[in-house]
This record gives sequence, structure tokens and C-alpha cells, in this order.
Amino acid sequence: MGIDISLDMISKIDNPNIDASVGDAHNLQFENNTFDLIYIRNVIHYIDHPEKAISEIHRCLKPGGYFLFSQVVPPKDSISEEYDWLVGRNIHYPTQTEIINWMMDFQILNKKDYILAGQSIMNWLNNTCKDQKEKDEIFNRHIETSQTYKSMVNYFDSNDDVFVDIKHLMILYQKVK
Ligand SMILES: C[S@@+](CC[C@H](N)C(=O)[O-])C[C@H]1O[C@@H](n2cnc3c(N)ncnc32)[C@H](O)[C@@H]1O
Repeated sequence: MGIDISLDMISKIDNPNIDASVGDAHNLQFENNTFDLIYIRNVIHYIDHPEKAISEIHRCLKPGGYFLFSQVVPPKDSISEEYDWLVGRNIHYPTQTEIINWMMDFQILNKKDYILAGQSIMNWLNNTCKDQKEKDEIFNRHIETSQTYKSMVNYFDSNDDVFVDIKHLMILYQKVK
């Protein structure tokens, strides 16, 4: 069973084995203690009240159930403000500290960072940004950003594109109470 708030996203699923429907992470339409595992990937930065979504996930998990949290995060917590400015669109990418503080009702079983090396900013913008003016602005910010950020992400540019390492955080939690 999967949910997304966007009907457009749900309609892209072409695997008949996946049972998915429109739903809001703030208010899951499932009974208490329903699932053995809940997985959430790259959604929390769009959620207005992440603590509410996390408490809904906790409610819907069976005791002892697993919660796999997977999310792109800023390369370091200290660069959070600059990272949000770079990405644009009034989105706040939560830091690792914020994320861990939301999950107090879970026990951490495993936590790992994965580096997706040399990711193309132009490719990301082409896939996610429809407005050309906004696309140009975000691209230019990547060129003009600080040397501190550039060294953190192994920045390089070539052929009208910019490449950076993206940090992806994965945490496996268990519902203990
Ligand atoms: C970056 S996409 C990630 C999609 C998918 N989870 C993946 O990893 O490929 C973020 C998704 O979060 C969805 N979303 C935003 N707010 C939501 C909410 N309140 N409840 C459920 N989904 C939400 C968006 O519609 C969008 O499809």
C-alpha cells in the first residue's frame, strides 16, 4: 500500500502489484497498528508539519514495526540556510539534527549516509522545474554559491552544467512503544 498527495504521481505507477492511492501524510487513513514496515522517501521537505506526519507513521505501525526513512539532506547542518537558498522554491530541507529530533518515539537501528557523486544540476532542474526564469535563477545560484559549499560537495562545472555530490540519509527505526 502506498500513498502520495498528488493524483498525478499516483497515476504514474505502472506496476499492478502496487496498491496506491491519494492520501495526506499528515492524516493517514489507516487503523492504528496496521503495518510491519513503513517507508518514506524524499517527502519530508514538502510536509508542512513533519512532526504530525511522523506521529501518524508511528500510530499506523505495529509495535515492533520498522520505519525506513530516506531523504536528501544538506551536506552539513551548518550549511542549511545556504542549501535552502540554492534549491529555491521556498522549500526547507531538514537537517540531520532536525530529523533525529522528530523521531524520539522510535529506536534507531541503523543510520547511514550515502553520497550520490557528481549529480547534474541541469538534469535535476529539467526534471523538476517548469518555469525557465526560476530554472535560470537556481542554476546561477549554484555557480555563484560559496566556496565552502562547493568544497563540501566536490563542485565542478563543464559544458553548461554543474555537478555536485548529493547526500542521502537513510535511517532504520523501530517502534518501541
Ligand atoms: C520528491 S517527490 C518523491 C516521490 C517518491 N516518494 C519518490 O521517492 O520517488 C515528493 C512527493 O511528496 C508528495 N507529497 C507532498 N506533500 C505530501 C503530503 N502531505 N502527503 C503525501 N505526499 C506528499 C508529492 O506529491 C511528491 O510526489
